[in-house]
Amino acid sequence: MSRAFPEGFLWGAATAAHQIEGNNINSNWWVHENEPGTTIVEPSGDAADSYHRYREDIALLADLGLNSYRFSIEWARIEPERGLVSRASIDHYRRMVDACHEFGIQPIVTLMHFTVPRWFERDGFWRAPDAADLFARYTELALPVVSSGVEFVCTINEPNIAAMLAGGEDASNLVAYGLPRPDLGVADALLESHKRSREVLSQVPGLKTGWTIATQAFEAADEPGAEEKKQEISSSAEDWYLVNAADDDFIGVQAYTRNIVGPEGIRPPAPEVEKTLTGWEYFPAASAIGVRAAWELSDHTPVMITENGIATQDDARRIDYTRGALEGLRDCIDEGITLLGYQHWSALDNYEWASGFAPTFGLIGWDRETFARTPKPSARWYGEVAKANAI
Ligand code: BGC
Repeated sequence: MSRAFPEGFLWGAATAAHQIEGNNINSNWWVHENEPGTTIVEPSGDAADSYHRYREDIALLADLGLNSYRFSIEWARIEPERGLVSRASIDHYRRMVDACHEFGIQPIVTLMHFTVPRWFERDGFWRAPDAADLFARYTELALPVVSSGVEFVCTINEPNIAAMLAGGEDASNLVAYGLPRPDLGVADALLESHKRSREVLSQVPGLKTGWTIATQAFEAADEPGAEEKKQEISSSAEDWYLVNAADDDFIGVQAYTRNIVGPEGIRPPAPEVEKTLTGWEYFPAASAIGVRAAWELSDHTPVMITENGIATQDDARRIDYTRGALEGLRDCIDEGITLLGYQHWSALDNYEWASGFAPTFGLIGWDRETFARTPKPSARWYGEVAKANAI
């Protein structure tokens, strides 16, 4: 039985600048990747060279049958030194928006996907008293990129994870089991930055703005004290961010797996469950759970899946996982939830932060020496779903 999605549903794939562009040398991550003794397994280097190959990447997505592309623009390129503006970089990102339209792809632009300029981190990072002013100023610089032909802008990617990373605990925790404790001062600064950025973006008529939240499908173990612990973790790691999206135009949900919580805290996945290359439980229902939580806690703000996917070498599992996720999302639509689209993570195999290039999330692979792109069977499968607008 085929189940149709609403007309105009945004079928796309997502990427982030630092993870695919290559040579993002003025960003804070570049600094950390290349520090002696770093726990980051390898530097991003040329990554997928998408900074130069973006037209080919966008054309490929269009060719597959997708109608949208979520990508991020890089603050460290637009403002490589404090107060020094690179017009060439702004033009570059404007050309990406234009290329999307040339190929019939709707661009969805993220302003900040984890990475910041090295000077911003040096000058206090999200704890600096002027952090929100600086982010608002960067948003103003980025206005030409989104001033026409863009309907959705994501201000800040996963502020809930960013607040954990900025907490000073080991960054490699990002992809390992467990979640470092969020820094609540940083969380406040991110919310303030998000609001200031939205204010700047409101100058563009019709532009819809929101932030994107990593939902964790927290689930209490059947033990005394587990439910209380779950609520305690969920409220600062997830719920607060969803509640604070109530006035936004949309909310992005980024879901991968679930987290079982015992009275002592989050547990590693049980030994017998299937795990992906990031060590997470294979759990396609994560997206639907995230969407329902976002819809309820944000008081019915329209939701978009801005990331969902699986790191695997077994592409058949990617298809199976995505089908499972989409079936759950179709149920959410039946329940009356406004779901705007689905952006699969990721368009390309990419630099998975502290884990380097090994966890392959991409619908499209590429050669490490020639950068030649090869769509995987999952990309073709997903393109057919998009074209049919149904599973
Ligand atoms: C991030 C991506 C990351 C993905 C898989 C999300 O937390 O936004 O940058 O690659 O999950 O770990």
